[in-house]
Amino acid sequence: MVGTQWGDEGKGKFTDLLSKEMSMVVRYQGGHNAGHTLVVDDETFALQLVPSGVLYDHIVPVIGNGVVVDPFVLLAEIDMLARRGVSCSRLRVSGNAHLILPYHQQLDALHERHLGKAKLGTTKRGIGPAYADKAMRLGLRVQDLLDEMIFREKLRAALIHTNKVLTKVFNRLPVDPDALADKVLSECLDPLKPYIADTTDLIHEGLEAGQQVLFEGAQATFLDLDHGTYPFVTSSNPTAGGACTGTGVGPRHIDRVLGVAKAYVTRVGAGPFPTELFDDYGNRMVDIGREFGTNTGRRRRPGWFDAVMLRHAVRVNSLTDLAITKIDVLDTFDVVKICVGYEIDGQRVDKLPYHQSELHRAKPVYQEFPGWKTDLSTVRRPEDLPSEAIRYLAFIADQVGVPVSLVSTGPGRDEYLHLVS
Ligand code: IMP
Repeated sequence: MVGTQWGDEGKGKFTDLLSKEMSMVVRYQGGHNAGHTLVVDDETFALQLVPSGVLYDHIVPVIGNGVVVDPFVLLAEIDMLARRGVSCSRLRVSGNAHLILPYHQQLDALHERHLGKAKLGTTKRGIGPAYADKAMRLGLRVQDLLDEMIFREKLRAALIHTNKVLTKVFNRLPVDPDALADKVLSECLDPLKPYIADTTDLIHEGLEAGQQVLFEGAQATFLDLDHGTYPFVTSSNPTAGGACTGTGVGPRHIDRVLGVAKAYVTRVGAGPFPTELFDDYGNRMVDIGREFGTNTGRRRRPGWFDAVMLRHAVRVNSLTDLAITKIDVLDTFDVVKICVGYEIDGQRVDKLPYHQSELHRAKPVYQEFPGWKTDLSTVRRPEDLPSEAIRYLAFIADQVGVPVSLVSTGPGRDEYLHLVS
């Protein structure tokens, strides 16, 4: 399951729904920059690292090697779930996942501050610096915790570089490797140990036993480090290919790629956004859709549904079908619009321009539809959808070339319907 826009599409809800048929739910990238909100029996769970499937007793939730793990955050989340009666005893964390340590968060904030107006608007969770250390071969992995000597040695080596950056570039105090190692080892090692595993082996054992495995993408296609609106992206690969590299499962094992798209678009942080709205429609999307970050509380930027982006997402992810979320947010709108192409320097284009400065200049070309002016939150059968909503959904499917198989009509666990394509 992948996000097809800029995140916050409501993926958690469908992970939860599909979990019923799954044996494992696996996170493959990102870290606690993600925020998955699930509403179960009027209780809201906001998860950052633990896969949403944890709420089902039959699921093994897995944090794959492609994820960056802040051990303190992970333990706090496990504790929070335990206090609310949800056991994490089945959770497994890849020994190859990289650790986010406090200096990664410090560097994230410092980089942002130094970028000034050019800042990316990151979540300041240390995601970028942790993946940068991984690429520089300076990262520490979850498995390093299991050997105190190795952990201390690697941390010392990493901090030779990082302390130079902190002191000479950012004029900050250096981090004491021994004090940090003491803190991490004393607070995290014992409680985390039972969860650390060879998750690639675990997933393959499951697949060989005929189990269904769901790979749960965090963030989304246009926040992908390679395929997103660089540099306004996250530092991992949320696109479907990331599920292979981030777990150790080859592409031939994947038989369905469900793209999740909101019935409109939002984005948090900076970056191009052709269908962005600054008017009353946009304000209503934010207010009715409660478009504020689960994690950071930031107001999300709203805009109309963009079929050009979605066509691109279909290609880069090999989407088989779509889940459309939050359609109920548009219930009171007199008109709804879908962007079908862009006008760039007087030229009409139907594909995402590969040169990003063109995307900054792209003016959306809209197809306008009458709104359905009906409360969709109680609709559970496709035949009960008003014709205007059916037309809106059918137009999206037609524009992007894959069927819409699921529609979410409210935040609750059972507020959705299956569409027959
Ligand atoms: P980072 O992932 O914290 O480095 O942030 C990079 C960009 O990705 C920023 O624009 C963030 O707002 C965005 N981002 C990261 N995680 C999420 C998410 O879960 N939902 C929406 N946007 C996100």
